[in-house]
Amino acid sequence: MSLKNKVAVVTGGNSGIGKAIALELARQGANIVINYRSRPEDTADLERQINALGSQAVGVQADVSKLPELDRLIQTAVAKLGRIDIMVNNAGIESRTSLLDTTEQQYDSVLDINLKSAFFGTQLAARQMIQQGAGGRIINITSVHEDWPMPGNLPYCLSKGGMRMLTRTAGVELAPHNILVVGVGPGAIATPMNQATLQNPAQAAKLNAAIPLGRVAKPEEIATVVAFLAGDGASYITATTIFADGGIMQSSPGL
Ligand SMILES: NC(=O)c1ccc[n+]([C@@H]2O[C@H](COP(=O)([O-])OP(=O)(O)OC[C@H]3O[C@@H](n4cnc5c(N)ncnc54)[C@H](O)[C@@H]3O)[C@@H](O)[C@H]2O)c1
Repeated sequence: MSLKNKVAVVTGGNSGIGKAIALELARQGANIVINYRSRPEDTADLERQINALGSQAVGVQADVSKLPELDRLIQTAVAKLGRIDIMVNNAGIESRTSLLDTTEQQYDSVLDINLKSAFFGTQLAARQMIQQGAGGRIINITSVHEDWPMPGNLPYCLSKGGMRMLTRTAGVELAPHNILVVGVGPGAIATPMNQATLQNPAQAAKLNAAIPLGRVAKPEEIATVVAFLAGDGASYITATTIFADGGIMQSSPGL
């Protein structure tokens, strides 16, 4: 188990990709802090699943778009599990709005939940890792849309584009501390975020047809990439993004 005795914090960790990441890191031996905003019963269930794998799990309810709550999350992680080795900035939402119809409230909530939380999550985790003196891994769950325009979802693209430069710049700044900062850019993944599309047979068929591998991915197929990036095998990867998109970025401009 390559992550034995490591401590990982996963934001937005009780559903979709975050839940799969929490389980995969636990499978590799890490103890997990599951941040969540809602559905405490799902967190309790996930804690039981992680415990059954032989790892410790601590659920912490916090709205990571608010700095004091994010700070409390980091402090609780250290108080309960002693350290932080892996920070996964995963929490995210989308507004599915265009430039012309986005409200200030929609802009603020998408940018605060996706980008501000990743910025300060990186800052706070890095400060803790520097204090520990043993390096660390910060993994930002971005999207193909960190690079690839999606008309009708502009605030989301903006937030993921910001995470792209957060990853690159923080990766360079933190390299002297052996803290590696990497983005993981998923394509289309079967999670609650995509439920409406996937439950519509015509839209689901169109999406699958646009993906060279012919299907959307399972959240577990992103979690295994994150686990690799958190482990010893990824010791020379920083300040970049690894895409796991079934080839879609190379084949379907403007989807
Ligand atoms: N599903 C996809 O196709 C896809 C593709 C590319 C990137 N992503 C990214 O993957 C990440 C996870 O998304 P998902 O697909 O698993 O969807 P999801 O809706 O299941 O997960 C998002 C999680 O973030 C949490 N969250 C939202 N606001 C929060 C806040 N203020 N504080 C704490 N937690 C908060 C939600 O409660 C939820 O658990 C997101 O960053 C998303 O942008 C998803």
